[in-house]
Amino acid sequence: MKRYLVTGGAGFIGSNFVLHLLRGEGCARVANVDALTYAGNLDNLRSVEGDPRYAFYQEDIRSAEAMARVIERERPDYVVNFAAESHVDRSIEDPSIFESTNVGGTVNLLNVCRLAWEGTDGGYGEHRYLQVSTDEVYGTLSLDEPDAFFGEKTPLSPHSPYSASKAAADVFVGAYGDTFGMPVLITRCSNNYGPYQFPEKLIPLMIHNAVRHEPLPVYGDGLNVRDWLYVEDHCKAIDLVLRKGRVGEVYNVGGHNERANIDIVKTIIRLVSERLKDPAINDGLITFVEDRKGHDRRYGIDAGKIAAELGWRPETPFEAGIEKTIDWYLKHAEWVERVTSGAYQAYYEQMYGHRGAAGA
Ligand code: NAD
Ligand code: DAU
Repeated sequence: MKRYLVTGGAGFIGSNFVLHLLRGEGCARVANVDALTYAGNLDNLRSVEGDPRYAFYQEDIRSAEAMARVIERERPDYVVNFAAESHVDRSIEDPSIFESTNVGGTVNLLNVCRLAWEGTDGGYGEHRYLQVSTDEVYGTLSLDEPDAFFGEKTPLSPHSPYSASKAAADVFVGAYGDTFGMPVLITRCSNNYGPYQFPEKLIPLMIHNAVRHEPLPVYGDGLNVRDWLYVEDHCKAIDLVLRKGRVGEVYNVGGHNERANIDIVKTIIRLVSERLKDPAINDGLITFVEDRKGHDRRYGIDAGKIAAELGWRPETPFEAGIEKTIDWYLKHAEWVERVTSGAYQAYYEQMYGHRGAAGA
């Protein structure tokens, strides 16, 4: 029975991970540290608020004092770092916060863990630090070579400020393993989808706009390819790597599910239109817009290592996952309204006596 400290646990994947852990019986404690930026939302975690195994701290991973205090109090066996600025388009608008949170925050967390965990013999006992990274650190693949994939040994070649910051963080994590012998692990996953994803990312944005009969902005020619994985499958992979992965290793995680953006958008249109019995939701809403700067053409993950070593495989077929996701968004219009309007920050103030940190 392990004690977990999860950072960024009020965001999309982090909150799914916290819920995943607390649904099972394998954890003694889950402490969630989140600064509650525009992307963090405690609504996601209302169902576990009374659970004695769960605690929430509104703190910033860049604060050494705050993180040391939480780690001293919680004494986690495992630290899982999800906290990050995660949206590529925002990183193109303003790279600096990506460097500060994703690189500086990670280095701070590594330092704090090292100080708290390192024994007098230089060992770290059973502690483990897992960095939640991304396939974007590998750069891009070509549409002309469909049999080429990112492996764990593919050189890092990030293109956006977001992926550059994630790659830099990964290099620091590796350096803490090599230099200080810290028990670090890295997972690099492909695109996630599922409940609680902020409607700035492709799938929830398209659902949001389709319901409102608003234009569906497709970048460039719509042929860029992403490898989509249902979020619950990613959560299972992370916990498995944490418990059974080999310290110092990188594990790629992917969906074996590559699709062109335009096909994703058309699937969403069809399913939302069917569910709402609304013929006005149709391909006519698709609007091709200017391409993203430095837009990576294709991501494709070779997840053979985690399959061979740990027996992990994606369990949710895309057809089932996308239906579940659309149904979740249609049923949770209030959640969507709250996260997109900023009204949830007033709710926090009323409920918890504080407001979320940064505005959208
Ligand atoms: P998200 O943007 O939904 O959530 C990020 C969370 O981090 C938010 O709750 C936010 O409040 C919190 N946060 C931001 N800055 C913080 C700080 N300084 N201190 C404490 N908390 C802070 O992101 P997500 O999509 O859930 O991604 C989580 C992690 O997984 C990220 O590290 C991302 O790079 C990685 N990842 C995401 C995907 C994906 O498809 N979404 C795929 C692979 C890897
Ligand atoms: O691959 C993992 C990464 O997936 C994560 O590390 C990132 O945190 C996560 O945001 C995601 O990055 P992407 O840039 O791939 O996701 P996004 O949903 O922003 O875009 C998916 C694709 O859809 C991409 O090719 C850009 C395109 N797109 C996106 C938006 C928001 C559009 O065509 N129109 C849009 O409005």
